Amino acid sequence: MKTNRETYIIGNWKMNQDLGAITHFLDEVSDLKTEHHAWIAPQALHIDKCMKLKSEHIQIGAQNCAHEDSGAFTGENSPKTIKELGAHFVIIGHSERRSLYSEGDELLYKKTLKALENELVVVFCIGETLEQREANKVEEVLASQLLNGLRDIDSKNVIIAYEPVWAIGTGVTASPEQAGDAHKFIRGFIDKNLKLEDAQETSILYGGSVKPENIEELMSHEDIDGGLVGGASLKPDSYIMLHKNA
Ligand code: PGA
Repeated sequence: MKTNRETYIIGNWKMNQDLGAITHFLDEVSDLKTEHHAWIAPQALHIDKCMKLKSEHIQIGAQNCAHEDSGAFTGENSPKTIKELGAHFVIIGHSERRSLYSEGDELLYKKTLKALENELVVVFCIGETLEQREANKVEEVLASQLLNGLRDIDSKNVIIAYEPVWAIGTGVTASPEQAGDAHKFIRGFIDKNLKLEDAQETSILYGGSVKPENIEELMSHEDIDGGLVGGASLKPDSYIMLHKNA
């Protein structure tokens, strides 16, 4: 029963979209009518511009942030600055950050704490690789990522995104059953082992090749509360269709 939970379609633009594309996108979605939260994570360098161009019902966030507010961290983006720009949320622990930039559980835990301290909502990503799925380790991996990354965090401002690594950018989507099983496990795990908001109230999004064509079926599962969407969130028509079909 997901009637109480908030639902989201979050666009993760990764290192895509130039200023022209952003202007066009935000103009096209300016009168979007939707029952889901409409959030977009552009490149950090574009947050300021997005804040100026967006309409009220869109929230802007970052794709990553540093684990400290300031200091000698060349090239990093401070969560405090992200908040000052007016952003609402930050994605932490995306698999591309975990694998390409070797971000481990301890760092992700610190980033989450700092982001929450700055009153940013955290979209915390977890997910198994194909190898781990084939070795029947899905639950073990999810449990360890949740426990190590969020261990004693006591906050209402955390959303979980389950993103199986093998489904990200590959065109292969987890079946509603595979995703649903993982979401059910995650909700049960939060209930028993974490201090986040009541597990029944925590929104758990699915990510990995979500498209307008499969969002409805995915979200029909009682434990799937929306999508974290890469490729299919770049074009305004597709983003609007995701909202309509969800
Ligand atoms: P995708 O990306 O929708 O392009 O698979 C999802 C993500 O990485 O968040």
